[in-house]
Amino acid sequence: MTVREILKMGDERLMRIAKPVLEFNTPELLEGIVDMKETMIAASGAGLAAPQIGWDIQLVIFGTGQIISRYPDAAPIPYTVLINPVITPIGNELQHDWEGCLSVPGLRAVVPRWQHIRYSGFDQYGQAIERTADGFHAKVVQHECDHLVGILFPQRVRDFTKFGFNSVLFPNLAPENDD
Ligand code: NI
Repeated sequence: MTVREILKMGDERLMRIAKPVLEFNTPELLEGIVDMKETMIAASGAGLAAPQIGWDIQLVIFGTGQIISRYPDAAPIPYTVLINPVITPIGNELQHDWEGCLSVPGLRAVVPRWQHIRYSGFDQYGQAIERTADGFHAKVVQHECDHLVGILFPQRVRDFTKFGFNSVLFPNLAPENDD
């Protein structure tokens, strides 16, 4: 198990269209996922996409097994490994909420996301996943899957008056959550 370096915005490896996973349940895949989970937990993240550690495949992990300090008001999301994901909006209602990203440390913005989605894909063993999600859960899935097509949250910002530094926007935020 290894905590991996998280790439930062500007790195070209974050801008690629990630490749689909063709083989499941391989040692390389399983070991990489263990590293990603370690990395996500070490950074107190709610999700992490493979491109953020320079891994060019369509794989994201997310979850808040316990309430984490970064998002104290959010309902828990089960820890999930999602491979080759497809997201379909349900309806056209949007949510507008603050987002940050481990690849964009120190900054947050209000970003529009679908309020209700269906998502599908596979787990690391090749078992199909199909779920509906709303609110925070839906937001996290959309944010993580954006990483698989080279999109970071600043590219989704519409209102640039709601884009800035955590330390200015949320001066009472605990320093360990400043990313
Ligand atoms: Ni991110």
